[in-house]
Amino acid sequence: MTAKDIIDTYISFFEERGHKKIENSPLVLQNDPTTLFTSAGMQPLVPYLLGKEHPEGKRLVNVQNCFRAQDIDEVGDNRHTTFFRMLGNWSLGDYFKKEEVSWFWEFLTQKLTIPKERLYITVFKGTNEIPKDEEAEQVWKEIILQEGMNPKERILYYGTKKNWWSRSGVPENMPAGEPGGPDTEVFYRFNIEHNPAFGDVCHPNCDCGRFMEIANSVFMQYVKQENGSFKELPKKNVDFGGGLERLLAAVENMQDVFQTSLFAPIVAGISHAINKPYSEESKEIRIIADHFISACFIAANDVIPSNKEQGYILRRLIRRGLDSFYQLQGGNLSEIIETIVDQYKNTDQILLTKFEHIKNTILAEENSYSQTRRNARKLITRKYPSASHSARVQAEGLGQARIGDELKGQVEISTEDAFVLYTAHGLSPAQIKSLGFLFNEDEFVQKMKEHQQRSKMSGTKKFDRVKEIR
Ligand code: GLY
Repeated sequence: MTAKDIIDTYISFFEERGHKKIENSPLVLQNDPTTLFTSAGMQPLVPYLLGKEHPEGKRLVNVQNCFRAQDIDEVGDNRHTTFFRMLGNWSLGDYFKKEEVSWFWEFLTQKLTIPKERLYITVFKGTNEIPKDEEAEQVWKEIILQEGMNPKERILYYGTKKNWWSRSGVPENMPAGEPGGPDTEVFYRFNIEHNPAFGDVCHPNCDCGRFMEIANSVFMQYVKQENGSFKELPKKNVDFGGGLERLLAAVENMQDVFQTSLFAPIVAGISHAINKPYSEESKEIRIIADHFISACFIAANDVIPSNKEQGYILRRLIRRGLDSFYQLQGGNLSEIIETIVDQYKNTDQILLTKFEHIKNTILAEENSYSQTRRNARKLITRKYPSASHSARVQAEGLGQARIGDELKGQVEISTEDAFVLYTAHGLSPAQIKSLGFLFNEDEFVQKMKEHQQRSKMSGTKKFDRVKEIR
């Protein structure tokens, strides 16, 4: 079963149950100032979850391209990606927990034929203000018993950090007017030992890599009030989200999503470009793959790299991807972009139709990054003569800066100068260090905090700001 087969099976399954297929919304939503990117299938549906009538009815299904900037620092492990596709089905005040939980299980075990013994369920355990989700718990208990398994071993309970979902996370972080609710999640257990580095007790939400969340159903039944309390929505909704990449990993029983049939050709292309096996450099290869996949989709949405909003995120992705690519002595970026487009073209026409534009955007940013690095070096060598030797070698000898070479000469610079490289030239602390410039990192972090404080006071709140430190 390929990624495309999973998409087709899912859409048919819910169409047969009365759902209307709605289109994948653009990654950059028009008329939504609350967010930079579409980060969940529910996002374009917020007005309908709050009660507005949807023109296509009360049962909807789709596959949504999503980008989550807030996950950027997690990329490099076996399962996190910033770009992913989310299978979604919604009930807008129609069916609720009984039907949803039963279909959730049927789809995973009957349609995707994932062995039931591999699956574990989590349910919201409640807080002082918000009750435990006993309704979902009851449906799961019946299913698990019918399957001949023990609910005590299969169903686990967590609080708001794990089993509550809203665009802004836990209830305390939600602004007034924001919908949210308890969610129930299904985890796949791989046949690997628990990694003892993560402590003695392993459970579905342990980060050791043994368990992976593959899908969730959010029961959007509350809306946050001005006084911080929660009121029941007049119509209770279902918001299912299944990560295509992770579902494929479960179907293929592949603990590393980057080695599933969807990512394998991209990873092989990168491995070829750097002339090193994936097993030796898996973390950096995952970062390169993820960041350039995201960059391709964001560029396809006509975002241009810049210093603000979506353009800033695109610039960060390309430059971080290049840092890893050059660190591993990677050469031709065009081939990586071509492999990505080739791999996604069956399911995402947009990459094919915008191919030239995507390639030109990314390659132009590569040039601009080289220029930035040259300028940074010039600035430092003017002030610190001891930096001039290594910089001259770089500036004169090589058109394309290579991070490994630059590390040969190290020069200590003031925190103020490092900060100028950060604010005026857009270089992150790691990138400044990769140029061979050392500085007092504690002082730098302090300056960065003051800077962020000033930016926060002048900017609007968005749901998906990337951490600026990288
Ligand atoms: N269904 C909500 C989410 O996972 O994004």
